[in-house]
Amino acid sequence: MTYTGSAHSMSEFKLSPELLKLIDAVNNRSAELTGDDGDKCIGSQLPTVNRAFEEIQRRGLPAGNQFCDWGSGLGGVCGVAALNGFKSLGIEFHHQFVVAAREIAEAQNLPITYCEGTFFVPGDETLSDKHSRMIMTYDKLAWEQTELSHQDIDVVFSYPWPGEEGFTDRVFLRHAKPGTLLVTFHGCDQLLVQRKTEDQNHLEVIDWM
Ligand SMILES: C[S@@+](CC[C@H](N)C(=O)[O-])C[C@H]1O[C@@H](n2cnc3c(N)ncnc32)[C@H](O)[C@@H]1O
Repeated sequence: MTYTGSAHSMSEFKLSPELLKLIDAVNNRSAELTGDDGDKCIGSQLPTVNRAFEEIQRRGLPAGNQFCDWGSGLGGVCGVAALNGFKSLGIEFHHQFVVAAREIAEAQNLPITYCEGTFFVPGDETLSDKHSRMIMTYDKLAWEQTELSHQDIDVVFSYPWPGEEGFTDRVFLRHAKPGTLLVTFHGCDQLLVQRKTEDQNHLEVIDWM
């Protein structure tokens, strides 16, 4: 997993020692790890994620405190969520990433739960309008390892593959309860924050952060 942006680039003077330590830990592990399929994974820019989470909390946007990263990789985003006061859950398909994320969280003393498997549930593949680059097998179902379900999450995070943003939105609309925030990373220092309205088919754009 290669995290774009470094701990010591943008806004360094604004980053807390805890956040800098987390970013260093994730970067140090990323070079040595690949997923089960041999792929390296690109991670979100953590200073950007931190800026957005601070803003989300400052504005009081979440309806509750439960956060979930759909595809949590080495857990950098889950760590930033925990540092911003969320109860943090990471779901990740690749075993090596889950092991590393748990080690990083423990070393940083961050209370994060990681479940190994897919965040999709059977049937979600019908929402994809083309061959998806997301992992769409159901042999490891992450939700079976936790008492939480999609409906318990207040803030969902995702870093969709380019071109799969619509798929992410549709899966979110299918499973999230009204009021839930969807935070998506789109590269180039850009995060989109949306909210599911009472209308099952509608996402309200709140802001780019
Ligand atoms: C682009 S990385 C993002 C990592 C992290 N969320 C971040 O933004 O830094 C996407 C991650 O999703 C994982 N992934 C892909 N499909 C998945 C699935 N169906 N269930 C769980 N994790 C999945 C990949 O293994 C990878 O670690």
